[in-house]
Amino acid sequence: MDRIRIVGGKPLHGSIPISGAKNATLPLMIASLLTRDTLILDNVPRLADVLLLQRILSNHGVDITIKGKRPGDVEHSNQTMHISAADIVDTTAPYELVSKMRGSFWVLAPLVARMGRAKVSMPGGCAIGTRPVDLLIMAMERLGAKIEIDGGYVIANADNGLEGGEIEFPKVTVGGTHVALMGACLASGTSVIENAAREPEIVDVADCLIKMGARISGAGTSRIVVEGVAKLSGTRHSVLPDRIETGTYAMAVAMTGGDVLLEGARPELLQNALDVLSQAGAEISATNAGIRIARNDAGIRPVDVTTAPFPGFPTDLQAQLMALMTRARGTSRITETIFENRFMHVQELARLGAHIHLDGQNATIEGVDRLTGAPVMATDLRASVSLVIAALAAEGETMVNRVYHLDRGFERLEDKLSRCGATVERISG
Ligand code: UD1
Repeated sequence: MDRIRIVGGKPLHGSIPISGAKNATLPLMIASLLTRDTLILDNVPRLADVLLLQRILSNHGVDITIKGKRPGDVEHSNQTMHISAADIVDTTAPYELVSKMRGSFWVLAPLVARMGRAKVSMPGGCAIGTRPVDLLIMAMERLGAKIEIDGGYVIANADNGLEGGEIEFPKVTVGGTHVALMGACLASGTSVIENAAREPEIVDVADCLIKMGARISGAGTSRIVVEGVAKLSGTRHSVLPDRIETGTYAMAVAMTGGDVLLEGARPELLQNALDVLSQAGAEISATNAGIRIARNDAGIRPVDVTTAPFPGFPTDLQAQLMALMTRARGTSRITETIFENRFMHVQELARLGAHIHLDGQNATIEGVDRLTGAPVMATDLRASVSLVIAALAAEGETMVNRVYHLDRGFERLEDKLSRCGATVERISG
């Protein structure tokens, strides 16, 4: 199993290209099931989760080809994917595959919308709370699907196709909104999604669906209206930049000091997190090429942050912010409101010398003058990258074990950081 070795203490200088967003790529790939035509996606990141979803879609009969590199392409540049779901040969998504990645459960919606039936295993994914799918099932029922749960599988049927309906989510759910949106596109009649998630990845998927012929208005607001159409066609779409990767490297620079251009990053996708970083003492400027982040010797100021659905502070940057605050000059508070049990990084950060007190969903972080390297273990995607951030500022060597979590969501992390001067290397085996 690969490990990542980090020797901390060096500021970061240079530029980091930001990849396409994982959390848009996955639903975009799934949306390919809605049409017989080819969907071409540009700016697809090379991630373990993308490979896994490729396997899952192949199992349904989807044909995926990755275009080779063109002359002049940057080494490892994001890939172009041609996805063709001309013939769906199987409407079952088995446990062995779905249990490895929660987002793959979303295939339920396009399969039922197009084929009238689907059998999808209940999901797995990061171990961050119970993460139920009740709201996703509710959305499908509102669109007229008959749902049964049997042997760990959700079995959905809509013999005469889905019908438009009113879906009001009692809490904001990204996955629920994706499912409702994809299902509603091919339903007969009009659907209204209330209290919809407003995340930029929802807007990106809606933009692609609109190019495929869907009639959607209001994506990016809490009320999305979809007029169903009989069929969708192929299109070409470029995945938006990853705001979580952007925020993660921004926190890394705030942690180590230095000056880095996050190439291709868009500030409006993470304004709240950038504001928090400014409060913490980072200098941030938007340029045509991306976002520039710098911190001089002034030190890190403590902050008080509560996670919230977009446009609030993202839960997917909570662990990284906590890592940063371990070195703040004073006491910070972070409240996690989206997922219970998303503090698994706390005990590992403590191994590096962090002082964090947990009380339910609230974490109080007493900044310390120094962190020291230690062996640590990655427990989930975002938690593992928070350990990397802490390690970059720790004295001596940190070995991050179980890095397969990192590979699920961060493309070439060790390469991107080491090009900016960090001592980071992957040890295979
Ligand atoms: C997506 C993101 C994930 C991010 C999360 C919140 C992807 C691939 N993943 O996950 O990185 O951390 O949004 O921004 O895009 N809930 C229910 N019932 C349901 C569904 C959700 O109670 O049926 C709850 C969840 O337990 C959680 C909250 O709703 O407390 C939000 O979850 P949701 O937005 O659905 O997260 P995901 O779509 O799984």
